[in-house]
Amino acid sequence: MCGIIGLVGHDDAVPAVLDGLGNLEYRGYDSAGVAMRNGHGLEVAKRAGEISDLAADLTDALPEGELCIGHTRWSTHGAPTDANAHPHTDCTGKIAVVHNGIVENHAELRRGLETRGHEFDSDTDTEVIPHLVEEHLEETGDVGAAFRRTLAELEGSYAIAMVVADGSSIHVARQGSPLVIGLGDGRSFVASDVPAFLEHTDRVIYLEDGDVAEISAGGYRIATADGEPADRPVRTVDWAPEDARKEGYDHYMLKEINEQPDAIRRTLHGRLSTDPVEVDLDLDDRLDGVERVHLVACGTSYHASLYGAHLLSRYGTDAGAWLASEYPGRMPTIEEGTLVVGVTQSGETADTLSALRHAADSGARTMAVTNVLGSTAARECDEALFIRAGPEIGVAASKTFSSQVVTLTLLAGHFAARTGGIGPELAELLTALPALPGQVETVLAGTPAEGIARRYHDQRAHFFIGRGTAHPVALEGALKFKEISYEHAEGFPAGELKHGPLALVTEETPVVAIFTGRDDEKTLGNVREVRARGAPVIAVASERTSVGAEADEILSVPETHPDLQGLLANVQLQLLAYHVSDLLDRAIDKPRHLAKSVTVE
Ligand code: F6R
Repeated sequence: MCGIIGLVGHDDAVPAVLDGLGNLEYRGYDSAGVAMRNGHGLEVAKRAGEISDLAADLTDALPEGELCIGHTRWSTHGAPTDANAHPHTDCTGKIAVVHNGIVENHAELRRGLETRGHEFDSDTDTEVIPHLVEEHLEETGDVGAAFRRTLAELEGSYAIAMVVADGSSIHVARQGSPLVIGLGDGRSFVASDVPAFLEHTDRVIYLEDGDVAEISAGGYRIATADGEPADRPVRTVDWAPEDARKEGYDHYMLKEINEQPDAIRRTLHGRLSTDPVEVDLDLDDRLDGVERVHLVACGTSYHASLYGAHLLSRYGTDAGAWLASEYPGRMPTIEEGTLVVGVTQSGETADTLSALRHAADSGARTMAVTNVLGSTAARECDEALFIRAGPEIGVAASKTFSSQVVTLTLLAGHFAARTGGIGPELAELLTALPALPGQVETVLAGTPAEGIARRYHDQRAHFFIGRGTAHPVALEGALKFKEISYEHAEGFPAGELKHGPLALVTEETPVVAIFTGRDDEKTLGNVREVRARGAPVIAVASERTSVGAEADEILSVPETHPDLQGLLANVQLQLLAYHVSDLLDRAIDKPRHLAKSVTVE
């Protein structure tokens, strides 16, 4: 969590850094700050609140500077106050640091520093860093050496950017938290994530754990943890600057919901042909010998994994999904032929990385299914499969769920093709995929979600039910609903309702029932059970399902293969959650207490 950006070589670095921070706000948004170097030394401006609050403070007197670092925070140590906002400085005010991660031995380091006379202004773990640099600078007289000596004392995870009052470069280091360098024309950037500087350049270098670098207007120098020069590849990202802007939508989330047709097209592009049915994920024979697949993931990615595991199993690959945070504790014995797949939009989620590392240590082969090229998961796993959804800025995941499920469907095709061959049933499913983007467009163009949201936004709770692939969609519908509306919502397997949750159902608890065309009669039976208790029913179904008079409202979706029906239903549920939250005036792109990239376990 937390977003970092640094820029050197721009005449007007501060506004560019504030803009870049805006694109990183999804990583945290309880306080923000900048440190800029101008002709008069170092100036720091920081405060609790959102980046727009900081920008408003600075508008009248936007300090000029050619070198600037900035930070948007998601608190882990210390409340979100002005004092705890980054950057943090040393006793002289000449060294400023922004940090993402956790310094685990900060208490011990702080005690030592205080004994030696250092005074602290904040409750953060980060503040030990500038004070340590201050001490080491006195010993060595060299900023780079002082930075290295400081890093050697830190335990935990970090991405750090540091500026000093009389320097012309930014010192950065990465250990366990992402950091990427951007190479512009006569200017250089560093950030937690590419959208921060995508307006300015698409040429990037992903730093590796242990890397220490110095970035100046004309270039960069990278060294490994041992101080050896390191040569890291320069890559070009294929995201366009407009991907990181709202482009006329009220919220990033709404834009990203509407981007799903294109996201799915990109996911499929060049990977599927239908006559004859073939899948090419560019994996050649590298996954041959895989006999079972464990999908590990969190939140929305976990729901996509449940969906994917269902499809993999149905079409011949032994597969199951685990919550990443639970996986190390209850991981089955890793037998020969086990592939552990981390499904993670960001590729940086600590719980997922930890599950993958645990699996690798136990002898499993690993693969990342991720949206972010160069992410930690992509780099650490034996294989990486990109979902190609494009940048997702809204904290609530939307288009990446669709792209993840489509990617896992293709993976089912890959495994089948490499073993017994793609049979007629799987061929039917794969053949239905190319029509999916157009069907999502139909949902987006004709959805009645806003009207339904108006009628039901002020209810006591919302329940979501479905069976088969509609079960993870019910879980995802409820997660989306609660995280952006702050209202109570729960998802259940439809058949499980009568084993307990039915006690919660009243006329004030609408039940959203998802139909796929498989086992619809049973789900209709469950709908009758809730109607008998007075609950309004919102059915998500295609014309294939005769919901008839059993539902009060219908969120209709085009008819597709039953295994893809859930993806169309999910778009309706995203829209329902969005409109309810909009009516309730919630902070849709930045729901309270949440951050997009959760880099703590
Ligand atoms: C919910 C949401 C989260 C993420 C979860 C995993 O809308 O976005 O539940 O899905 O934090 O994140 P990734 O996929 O980046 O590992």
